[in-house]
Amino acid sequence: MNATLTLDKDFVLSEIDPRVYGGFAEHLGRHIYTGIYEPGHPTADSEGFREDVIALVRELSMPIIRYPGGNFVSGYNWEDGVGPRESRPRRLELAWGITETNEFGTNEFMSWCKKVGSEAMMAVNLGTRGPDEARQLVEYCNHPGGTQLSDLRKSHGATDPYGIKVWCLGNEMDGPWQMGARTAYEYGRVANEAAKLMKWVDGSIETILCGSSGRGMASFGKWEWESLHESYNNVDYLSLHTYYNNRANDTPAFLAETENMGDFIAEAIALCDAVKAAKKSKKTINLSFDEWNVWYHSGDWGQLGARWDEVRPQLEDIYNMEDVLVVGGMLLAMLQYADRLKIGCIAQIVNVIAPIMTRPGGGAWRQTIFYPLQQCSQYGRGTALRTAVSSPTYDCATRDKAPYLATSAVISESGDALTIFAINRSLTEPLELTTTLRGFGKAEVIEWTTMHHADLKAVNTETNPENVVPQQATGAVVSGETLTATLPAASWNVIRLK
Ligand code: AHR
Repeated sequence: MNATLTLDKDFVLSEIDPRVYGGFAEHLGRHIYTGIYEPGHPTADSEGFREDVIALVRELSMPIIRYPGGNFVSGYNWEDGVGPRESRPRRLELAWGITETNEFGTNEFMSWCKKVGSEAMMAVNLGTRGPDEARQLVEYCNHPGGTQLSDLRKSHGATDPYGIKVWCLGNEMDGPWQMGARTAYEYGRVANEAAKLMKWVDGSIETILCGSSGRGMASFGKWEWESLHESYNNVDYLSLHTYYNNRANDTPAFLAETENMGDFIAEAIALCDAVKAAKKSKKTINLSFDEWNVWYHSGDWGQLGARWDEVRPQLEDIYNMEDVLVVGGMLLAMLQYADRLKIGCIAQIVNVIAPIMTRPGGGAWRQTIFYPLQQCSQYGRGTALRTAVSSPTYDCATRDKAPYLATSAVISESGDALTIFAINRSLTEPLELTTTLRGFGKAEVIEWTTMHHADLKAVNTETNPENVVPQQATGAVVSGETLTATLPAASWNVIRLK
């Protein structure tokens, strides 16, 4: 099979906001407890943070991390998680049916963020609580001092304000599973009032309005239209969430889902712009894809039962080779909309539907999906180019005419390198890719790495952590303005040129 790609150095889509390579850390399962925080672990530092995990998160270079939920945030009292540990309350946590000890809270998270080199993206509880608690949290975190809440933060050891810039106005407020779920009108009103007060406390912050929990929600479209109408002037981003699965064990259909993700992004942009038009506003709302991933292997979904134990494994998906193609495809779908999509958070980071796994008291390792994320975060910064693609297609259960080739091209921040990310979705045939490089002068291939495996269900484990990893590939050749490379069947590829 053959496909062509045409790139022109001047055919620029947008600067890429590095925050698209962000992550999400929720109080859920073993993400916090025994994931990032495990006092007594052989690698634990003086604050109880696992240094083996810190090292792996640093490899992902996540510019921003969303916290503390997710569904968890809709029942969370942020005050429970600050101050002396011995006086923090134990609470029933209704989203995931556990007992929250509150050993880890806002100040621990901020300290951990510093250690992994990320900014925080804080979510406020608009489920069981409202604008008052939200503005108080902004004051606690961001006000320099001289008020009860800012001085309380200082008394907890954080002398300087955190200056948290990005704030999520609740989580998935359209979902019946959400504590305090609301109608679009109710949510739009409360989000507007919360954002207004939060911005009065700190005028430099940005706020994210919850979009639909997924494109498949019956109210998708109407939800965005109504809630944005109520809050347009006080919000800066609209959120999107999506998870894909291969429960049907129909791999071609599973791989094509990432084209649907592109359609979802286009629809969300249209919805933002429709409200802009209706309001005759000069302001443009951008997008935050603040939950995305593959989620189905663990079989854990929704309400997991109230057992009230402190920590138990939840949503521990073990990812395989075909998930690499979907996670890579999701990243490429986001890059195709780099002009409007400014934040992305893979859900999640450690143990819970995550690129990093740990064993309590034991090791930490990289899941298969770690690699496309790490490579995009490393090489997908700078300028996204528009891509002109001609590819053979296939029809499947999730989509008609899904292209076998998925691709994106990025000029590095320094301007001296070009990276082409490319997926061959054919499970059986290599794809001969011919790329025309216009305006790049004399280009040469620096490196080509590829990920593929004879077994699409192959995984990485603690004892076999490098079963599915990028490998060096050869045979990518530039002749004049033409780059040729034959992409193996079912492969994720990163071709770098200078
Ligand atoms: O990421 C897991 C859960 O998925 C989050 O808590 C929720 O927001 C979504 O439904």
